[in-house]
Amino acid sequence: MPSIRKRVAVAGAAAVALTTTIAMTTAHAVTPPRAGAAGSAAAPADPTYTAAEVLAGVKKNSTAANQVNTKPHINTMTRAMNVNVYQVASGVYAYTSSMAIDDDGSDPDPDPDHQGDTTWHDSNGKALAAHHVPFYVLGDDCWDRKTPCPHFFYKEHGMSGRQFALMFYNGKVIGSIFGDTQTANNQTTSDNDSRELGEASVKAAQLLGIPSSGTTGGVDNGVTVVMFSGPSWVVNGTNANLNANAQALVQKALDTLGAAMAGTNPPPSGTLFEAESGTLSAGGTFDSNHTGFTGTGFANPANAVGAYVDIPVTADTAGTRTLTFRYSDGTTAARPATISVNGTSHGTVNFPTTANWDTWANVSITVPLKAGANTIRIAGNSAVGDANIDSVTVSP
Ligand code: GCU
Repeated sequence: MPSIRKRVAVAGAAAVALTTTIAMTTAHAVTPPRAGAAGSAAAPADPTYTAAEVLAGVKKNSTAANQVNTKPHINTMTRAMNVNVYQVASGVYAYTSSMAIDDDGSDPDPDPDHQGDTTWHDSNGKALAAHHVPFYVLGDDCWDRKTPCPHFFYKEHGMSGRQFALMFYNGKVIGSIFGDTQTANNQTTSDNDSRELGEASVKAAQLLGIPSSGTTGGVDNGVTVVMFSGPSWVVNGTNANLNANAQALVQKALDTLGAAMAGTNPPPSGTLFEAESGTLSAGGTFDSNHTGFTGTGFANPANAVGAYVDIPVTADTAGTRTLTFRYSDGTTAARPATISVNGTSHGTVNFPTTANWDTWANVSITVPLKAGANTIRIAGNSAVGDANIDSVTVSP
């Protein structure tokens, strides 16, 4: 385990490829859903989230209920003990703090704390180059020596070296990677600075327009780092291309997090049948004017008591199955519906409200199916009819 603050020392290569940062705009561009091949489950709709939208969602989800740490972290620049880490979506962790500049000692005004190595290395085993790779710094252990750690400790949250993060500052967003760890300088035990949050490499500062001098650069606050855990978010590459590889993930990360925070819950595993393959009672329509559906659209049954959508499903063998309905109800009242299988009612399922008509949720009921073709009817119990119905998934 590294016990001293580690920094990188590389020969002073000066050429730095410019990377375009993604400007934060307010419009929510939505590309049309991709059409699926006839008869097969189509790809989900493909919304594109802007940096401004995602940052707004991150701030909104940075609530006490989502706080990971129970003791505050230290702002690296100001030393204030007021930095918290929030789980803003499943496996995604965010904090807002300073940016202290981590450089490699090759500047005329080097970071006084720089060391000769970084905790994490590039894919060739070389120390990360602070002037080439945008990276952020986390504590290298749990200051309290407790499990679970009262602070955010990366090892407890599915994170390791080169873990991707979005970094937001002053209208810009960049991709960055977990590059280095820190404790107090020149200590054999880390009883101080592993609680710090708010340091990043020269390259990260440059990309975000933050003064990047190792001695006089940095900002005291306002840098939001949103870390994506799990092996699929580890960025590979060398000092020559890690920056480009991180920037290439920015839109995917914005879209993944944007969809997760919007509550566009995916259907569960099982065999999915699209509502738009079914039939509607009088007055209903198959629509695609709200985002986030699977296939080519969703059923919008009429606003009337008993209005229904019939969805054909198949089962290999007769038996009890769980049906999961993916639906949306952007009003302020739930829309209960009677569920029938092949003409026999199996009771009422409640379809609670969702945040809006672009937000999808799942509700389930267990019913008997016969082998072969079955018809599932969802019939609204109130004058407003059914929720919008995207699909039904049949459990194995
Ligand atoms: C809105 C919404 C529809 C929905 C309808 C309803 O018009 O856009 O998708 O089906 O309300 O109340 O059922």
